[in-house]
This record gives sequence, C-alpha cells and structure tokens, in this order.
Amino acid sequence: MHVVRTPGSARAIARTLPRPVGFIPTMGALHRGHISLIERARAENAVVAASLFVNPLQFGAGEDFEKYPRSFERDAQLLEAAGVELLYAPGVERMCPPDFRTGVEVQGIGDLFEGAARPGHFAGVATVVAKLLHAIEPTTLYLGQKDVQQTVVLRAMLRDLDMPTQVVVCETVREEDGLALSSRNAYLDPAQRRAAPSLYRAVRAVREAVEGGETDPAVLRALGNSRIEPPLVLDYMEIVDPYTFVTQVRAERPAVIVAAARAGATRLLDNLSIPANDGLDPVVTPARAVRTKARS
Ligand code: PAJ
Repeated sequence: MHVVRTPGSARAIARTLPRPVGFIPTMGALHRGHISLIERARAENAVVAASLFVNPLQFGAGEDFEKYPRSFERDAQLLEAAGVELLYAPGVERMCPPDFRTGVEVQGIGDLFEGAARPGHFAGVATVVAKLLHAIEPTTLYLGQKDVQQTVVLRAMLRDLDMPTQVVVCETVREEDGLALSSRNAYLDPAQRRAAPSLYRAVRAVREAVEGGETDPAVLRALGNSRIEPPLVLDYMEIVDPYTFVTQVRAERPAVIVAAARAGATRLLDNLSIPANDGLDPVVTPARAVRTKARS
C-alpha cells in the first residue's frame, strides 16, 4: 500500500494506477461500516484508494475535533488488509494552512437538519471532499447511507461543479441490536449505549407506519418520539424527499426518514429509506456486476 501525505504525491501515484479507481474518504477510527465500503469498492474497481483525515473544517466550535478518536497505525493496517492500494493521509497544516480561504457551500440541503444543528459542517465536508477528489481523481466515490444528508450534499456538489466522479451509496452497517456503527459510539456510557438502539427502533416504527398508510408528519414524529428511551433525547425525526431533503408535508413514497438524537454531548444519527412503488431504493446504489479486475 502506498501511503502519501501531499496532494501532489497522491495525484502522481493515482495517475499511474489502473482504472477504474474506487475511493473511500474517512476520518479514521475505522469500523466494519468503513470496511464494508472498501469491500464494495474492491468488488467494483481495479484499485481502491482511501483517505484518513480528521477534518477540522467540519467540526464546529466546542465540538469533538480535539478528542475525536485517532488511531493511524491500526487504521492503516486495517485498510491494507482490506486491499487498499493508495492511502492518502494529509496533515492538517497542508490541508488547511492558516491562510486557507476557499470553501464549497451547497446551499439549501447543506443548511437543513445536520447543517442547522452544526452550522458550517457541510461546507467543511464539501470543501475537504473536493480537495480529496482533486488529489485522487477517482472513478467512483463510495459513501455510507449512515450519513445520508452528506450523500445528498456531495452529489449536489459533484453535479454543480461538473466533477466527473460517480457516487455509490452503501447500506448502513449495524450492531446486532440495530445501533448504526459510528466512531462516536465509543463516547457512550453504559446507560446511553443501552438506550442508543431505540433510535433505530423509532425510525423502523415510523417506516412501518408510513408503509401502513400513515401520512401525517406530526403523528409520525410523535410515534417516533414515543420509542426513544431515556437518557436519549430526540432532536428531529422527519420524512424528507430523498433528492432535495425538503420535508414532506404529507409522507409519500419515495422518502427518507431522518432522525438525530442526543446522548449527553454525543449526537447519534440514523435514517431509513422508503422505496417508491417500483421498489427501487432512493438512496442505496445497487451493486454492479463484479468487474474483471485489472490488477497486474
Ligand atoms: P467518517 O465518519 O469516517 O465516515 C466515512 C464514510 O464511512 C462515510 O461515507 C460514512 O457515511 C461511512 N460510514 C460511517 N458509518 C457507517 C456505517 N455504520 N455503515 C456504513 N457506512 C458508514 O463521513 C466522514 O467520515 C467525513 O464527513 C468525510 C466524508 C471523510 C469528510 O471528512
């Protein structure tokens, strides 16, 4: 596995690699969710590239940038074992020097939900992902449904800026009790951890109600809220359009149910999509037929 630290060396090596190239950006503290993206990319590409960068631009003041779990050696080993051939791990001073003044802002979608709760968050994500894509120039960007709003923001950025990379969105990987895997789950104390899967149960209950014909967002929100167990506190539970993230006035298919809850200072996110009547999932990209690998 090549490990590179600067955009110039990332681009120089990436340009020598056989294509198609699948790319997975991460902030490290890797878990099975991240690895599932690598495996999917391996199945669909000649080469897999990944990045490890805890991006200060996407953390707000008072958020957990300083204490975000960092485990470079372990992460690099996991990536290599999973078949990553190019690891781009830039330093903060190179990615965001003190005179850095350019940002990519996806208006509208980037200001809703997580963007409202965390002002500047999605501009930080979009700016850094744009930089990573310029360095790696991948064929396809692999993202997790776990952060569904991020997938919609990044698709909008790619389209608006005429960037040629495709997007594949992969299903959320969960613990046995349903809790979506997240690097931040490590912050949960035992009582919070016990209550945490109630967020997924709440989203599932809402999905069942929509599938059963309930269309009133207030009824659905109350139903979801009733499933949340203390000490978890529901932040939002909304039925949104999968492509614009606009809240639906009456729930209709296709839709995405998005939810966030707080467990002390920790934010937990979850979501589920509801396919249109044609059965096609509006978020997750179906797997492509496995290509013949162009590895030498
Ligand atoms: P990070 O939280 O490390 O996540 C990296 C990728 O893994 C994202 O696409 C995320 O959606 C996906 N992922 C996380 N948990 C998952 C799970 N349980 N199942 C499936 N996929 C999961 O998201 C970021 O980093 C950053 O915002 C980044 C895109 C790297 C930009 O800094």
